[in-house]
Amino acid sequence: MGAVTASIMFHFVSPSYAFEDGITLILLLAATCFVIGLHLMNAPPTANHGNRLSAVGMAVAVAATLALIAHDGTITTTGWLMLAVGGVLGSGIGLYLARSVEMTAMPQLVSLFNAVGGGAAALVAIADFVRLAGIAGAPTIAARISVTSVLDVVIGAVTLSGSIVAAGKLQGFIPSNPIVIPGGRFINLVLALALCAGTGYILSGANSDITLIGIAIAALVMGVIMVMPIGGADMPVVISLLNAFTGTAVAMAGFVINSLGLIIAGALVGASGSILTKLMADAMNRSILNIVAGGFGTGDTASVIGAGATGQVRSVGADDVAIQLAYAQKVIIVPGYGLAAAHAQHSVKELADLLEKRGVEVSYAIHPVAGRMPGHMNVLLAEAEVPYEELKTMEEINPEFPRADVALVIGANDVTNPAARRPGNAVSGMPILDVDKAKSIIVIKRSMGYGYAGIDNELYTDPKTGMFFADAQAGLRAIIAAVKTLVGVD
Ligand code: TAP
Repeated sequence: MGAVTASIMFHFVSPSYAFEDGITLILLLAATCFVIGLHLMNAPPTANHGNRLSAVGMAVAVAATLALIAHDGTITTTGWLMLAVGGVLGSGIGLYLARSVEMTAMPQLVSLFNAVGGGAAALVAIADFVRLAGIAGAPTIAARISVTSVLDVVIGAVTLSGSIVAAGKLQGFIPSNPIVIPGGRFINLVLALALCAGTGYILSGANSDITLIGIAIAALVMGVIMVMPIGGADMPVVISLLNAFTGTAVAMAGFVINSLGLIIAGALVGASGSILTKLMADAMNRSILNIVAGGFGTGDTASVIGAGATGQVRSVGADDVAIQLAYAQKVIIVPGYGLAAAHAQHSVKELADLLEKRGVEVSYAIHPVAGRMPGHMNVLLAEAEVPYEELKTMEEINPEFPRADVALVIGANDVTNPAARRPGNAVSGMPILDVDKAKSIIVIKRSMGYGYAGIDNELYTDPKTGMFFADAQAGLRAIIAAVKTLVGVD
């Protein structure tokens, strides 16, 4: 231990190392902020602190990098100017988007950030390679740089185009249904072979920047072909996977330009993105390979639409719903995307408070992919100050549905669809909330419209189900008024 300390101290008193090593230590401090920040984000009560700590870590990393650039002394005034303009523009756009984008559009925003991260990482590798290849009489570019450059460009370019397609699908610019490109798999195979050939050529010692740019174009096309056939219901997993790709590309860029900060930050994003992808894929009962192969969300929806269309739909009004809720002993609320779209989180809390005052036991069933982003329902309900202990995970709540007098489904669709228990449709195999096991079911939504997966929901034709066709916000207000009238509360 003493020897190690002595050697570190020797290292630091040596003037040639002192500055760089100081920066390295500061970057390690920033990395520690990221790791602790990520850990704090595990639980809602500490998530805000985690976010702030990570932001501090990022500010420290940026400041350390600027100090390193200044110390290096090779940067020109134009270089500083470009950094300043880029920094101000990037921070301004980021701040504006983060403040103005609706919660429901957050996945698209994350996807665009992934695209920017992947694209930037690829550009770093291309710029560095072109610079090295352009040095007259340059020796062969070292294998270490060639390998990481090619990996960075491939992963970064696939992420760039794939994320733009994913954001377009989520925003509705591109149809969210699976778009199967004729011969897509064959094209991707040819592109993969071309990538291998190009990589081999570069590794053989050819300082060919044109080949690297060709590799980037092939990877861009691969990203599009990879994401186009993926159905909307599977998009959360794809975005998370592309997020992991972004991190990996950034880490590769760190190896290319020898930046410890990029390597650490990229590795953290790559690892946490991969873990999240696995957790989400498990929650939807999909394999990640199945998603990437494009077999995802492309099931035969026709049979399900047919099955759903045969049953009778029973429509109910606010007064019917109020009677059922007010005289129930146990109510399970099932929130979904529609609750978020209608900004009805405060109304649902008000209804729950009203029922609880009458002694009704109320809990919330949280499906891991309800809404449009991981943790969407938790964040939404936490904002309305719903007690955290009332939010139950799918595993906790499913055994409780048979004891529930009423399951109140608000703007949720796919996550309740019993068709998931059968093979051959777009939600097959996805674990669902066992809403159909409740004694009575009320669904608040505006129409018989589909959810994200684009298929009928058999729950709506279940004889136990009453459909209350309304916007979630307006519907809940009407139910609250009806309950108050019923029980004589002002
Ligand atoms: P969905 O299946 O998408 O269903 C939402 C329902 O809300 C729709 O059927 C819609 O029916 C209704 N709705 C929309 N606006 C409404 C409003 N203002 N008032 C009342 N109802 C409204 O939602 P879900 O059950 O939460 O399932 C989530 C789906 O999204 C899954 O397929 C999941 O894979 C996918 N997804 C999830 C994520 C993450 S990470 N959570 C990200 C992207 C996609 P009407 O039009 O008839 O009202």
